[in-house]
Amino acid sequence: MKVDVLLGLQWGDEGKGKIVDVLTPQYDIIARFQGGPNAGHTLEFEGIKHVLHTIPSGIFRKEVINIVGNGVVIDPVIFQKEMEKLAPFNLDLKKSLLISKKAHLILPTHRLLDAASEAAKGTNKIGSTLKGIGPTYMDKTGRNGLRVGDIFSPNFKAKYDALVEKHVGILKHHEGFEYNLAELEGPFMEGIEKLRALTAIDSEQYINDALKAGKKILAEGAQGTMLDIDFGTYPFVTSSNTVTAGTCTGLGIAPTKIGSVIGIFKAYCTRVGSGPFPTELENEVGEAIRKEGREFGATTGRPRRCGWIDLPALKYAIMINGVTELSMMKADVLGTFEKIDVCTHYLVDGERMDYLPYDLTDVEVVPVYESLEGWNCDLTQLSNYADAPQALKNYVSYLEGKLETPITVVSVGPDRKQTLNNN
Ligand code: GDP
Ligand code: IMO
Ligand code: MG
Repeated sequence: MKVDVLLGLQWGDEGKGKIVDVLTPQYDIIARFQGGPNAGHTLEFEGIKHVLHTIPSGIFRKEVINIVGNGVVIDPVIFQKEMEKLAPFNLDLKKSLLISKKAHLILPTHRLLDAASEAAKGTNKIGSTLKGIGPTYMDKTGRNGLRVGDIFSPNFKAKYDALVEKHVGILKHHEGFEYNLAELEGPFMEGIEKLRALTAIDSEQYINDALKAGKKILAEGAQGTMLDIDFGTYPFVTSSNTVTAGTCTGLGIAPTKIGSVIGIFKAYCTRVGSGPFPTELENEVGEAIRKEGREFGATTGRPRRCGWIDLPALKYAIMINGVTELSMMKADVLGTFEKIDVCTHYLVDGERMDYLPYDLTDVEVVPVYESLEGWNCDLTQLSNYADAPQALKNYVSYLEGKLETPITVVSVGPDRKQTLNNN
C-alpha cells in the first residue's frame, strides 16, 4: 500500500480539515506530518463546527487511527485544550490518537521567543501565529529540542530546565520584553501529564508496518505550499516543509511509498499574516470575498487578505508537490460575482513571468488577468456536480486545462455534505 497525501497549494486555510474529514471513511489511518498549533482545521457536520489545531482531522470517525507524526511540533497546553474540547464526543483518545515519540515539544519559552522575535522585527514581522513554531523548529535543527519521548524520562525536568535557561539567556537580549514564565509553566506541566496519559509510539515503525499489513493511510498537510520553508515566499513562511516531501521526513515514509497527492485550493486566494500576495485585492472586491467567505483566521481570528486565484503560483505548487488531483474549495463564495478574474501570468519590469520571481519581496509583480463569466447564483444547495451551472463547469474546465490536473472535488459550503464529486 501507499500513503496518499492531502495538502494546501496556496497560503493555508484552503479547507484541508473539511476534505480530510470527508475522505476519512476511505482510510484506516490519518496522520499529520508537520506544523503544529499554528494550524486551524475546521470541520462542519451535523450542525457542529469544530476547529482542530494539532489533532488530525480524522478524529471524529471512531474506527480510524489518528497519528501525530515526528515532523509535528506539539504545545502540551494547546493539546490538552484540544482534547478537552473533544470530551463531548466520547472518543477513546488513548486508542485512536497516537503520538510520535520523536515529535518536538513547544515550551512556554518558545512562545515567548516567537513574540520577542516578532516584536524586534517591527514592521518587517512575519505575522507569525505566535504559537512558538519558529523557535521550536530552530531548536530541533539546532539539536537542542525536547521530544515527546523525553517526557517519560526521569531526567525530563532537568532537560527542560537546561533548555529554559538557554532561552532565558536569549530573551535577555530583547530589551524591554517582559514576561512571567512562572505563570506559563503550571499549565505546561499539567499538559505534559495529560500527554503522558496518551499513547506515544515509534510512529515511523507503526506506519510502515501498517502499510505492509495493507492499511490505507492519508497524510494531512498543514499550512500551504506558499508557506513552505524552502519553496514559499521566504522569509514570510512557516518553519516546516509543508510540501509532499515533508510527508517523507515527517512520518518516516520512503518517497516510493507516496500514492495519490491531492492538492487543495480555494476558487480564489487568501493569505493571513505578512508577505507578498500578487493577486491581493485591497478594495471592495477583496472586502466582498472576505465577507462572503467569512475569511477570518481559525487560529488567530485575524482577517485574511483576499484576492483572485493565482495560476502561476498554483502551477508551481502542483509541480513541487507532484499533485495528481485537485479539490477546489469555496466555489459558493464567488456566487455573487458577474465576472471572476484569473491571474494567468505576471509582468515583472514589463517582462512576462510564469512563476514567482526569487526577489518577490523587492520587485513589483503585476498580475495579468483573464476574466471569466461568473455563475452568479447560490451553489450551497447543490448535491450533484452534474446539476452545477454551466459557468461553474466552464471555470472548472478552464482551470483543469491551465493546471493540467483534474479537479475531482468541488466544494460548495463548509459542511461535509456540501461536497461535489467530479469524477
Ligand atoms: P484549513 O486550515 O485548510 O483546514 O482551512 P480553515 O478551516 O482554516 O479555513 C477554511 C474555512 O472555510 C473554514 O471556516 C471552513 O469551514 C470553510 N469552508 C471549507 N470549505 C468551504 C466551502 O466550500 N465553502 C464555504 N463557504 N466555506 C468552506
Ligand atoms: P492551516 O494549517 C494560514 C502563517 C502565519 C504567518 C506565517 C508564519 O490552518 O492552513 P508561524 O506561526 O507558522 O510562524 O507563522 O504562516 N500561517 C498560516 N496561515 N493557515 C495556517 O495553517 C497557517 N500557519 C501559519 O499567518 O504568516
Ligand atoms: Mg486553517
